[in-house]
Amino acid sequence: MIRLIHFSDIHLTVRPLGWSWRDCFNKRVFGWLNVHMLGRGRRFAQAPRIVQRLRDEILARQPEGVIFSGDASHFGFAAEISEAAAELGLQAGAGLPPGVAVPGNHDYYVGPAATSGAFERFFAVWQQGVRLENRPYPFAVRLGPLWLIAVQAAHPHVAVWDASGRIGNSQLQDVQRLCRQLEGGTRVVVCHYPLLAEDRQPEPWHRRLRDWAAACQTVCHCGIALWLHGHRHRWYWLAADQNLPCPTIGAGSATQSGRAGYLEYTFYETHLSVLRRVYDPDTDRYRDAEHFQLALPTAVTPSV
Ligand SMILES: [Fe+2]
Ligand SMILES: [Fe+2]
Repeated sequence: MIRLIHFSDIHLTVRPLGWSWRDCFNKRVFGWLNVHMLGRGRRFAQAPRIVQRLRDEILARQPEGVIFSGDASHFGFAAEISEAAAELGLQAGAGLPPGVAVPGNHDYYVGPAATSGAFERFFAVWQQGVRLENRPYPFAVRLGPLWLIAVQAAHPHVAVWDASGRIGNSQLQDVQRLCRQLEGGTRVVVCHYPLLAEDRQPEPWHRRLRDWAAACQTVCHCGIALWLHGHRHRWYWLAADQNLPCPTIGAGSATQSGRAGYLEYTFYETHLSVLRRVYDPDTDRYRDAEHFQLALPTAVTPSV
């Protein structure tokens, strides 16, 4: 048995952000307008306080591991990502359990945000795992009977409306190579993007994981038992069916007003018990909200 906490999409920001003259000509300008003029900022106004409570929850509930599926920031500034990691207590000696963190599209908002390595630097504590050569992704973290496999799909885009992701053939092949090297254990993917949305269809073109179909094939080849993700701010889960090779669970946003919460997983061999805990602004505490059980596929031996 192992117990994990999964949260996502905390979208913290900070002042000063560290604007450069280049940012006046890229997507960050429109993102800033969206946050400060068009209402997005109001939806995340309580995010700093909620992240502090989330850190208290993690320390109090003492899970064996933590999963963060991305979107630490609004605009991918290093100052925002640093603030997010600090507020979560990721500095050395803070007592947080081991974990897995992957970036979201907001953490790679523009080209320099992706190439700076800021996310990987500030979330390094949750980026320790088995890798192929020196490639940053994918990597696999052993936690009890599980292999958590971190897959990176976030990319910067020029177009303001484009929030899509792509894993890429090269990384999908690396996932298969990595899985061949792993010892036995239940394989669980952690990726910012879902395979399918709540209606079991791919997300709209400008938001979807573009190579979701290829990712589904890799799930089959590697015997992946579960796909954990963020990106969509409302939490949901999907059972496997003929179009979806494994169950998927999206944690939703941990900090958005009216939706703030996280998931606590208890794995019993091939059974997963999921508890949804939500943040109550009236009491400034978390409370139990929903609970469900899920049977995972038993085959964990990759067929590649
Ligand atoms: Fe998000
Ligand atoms: Fe996202």
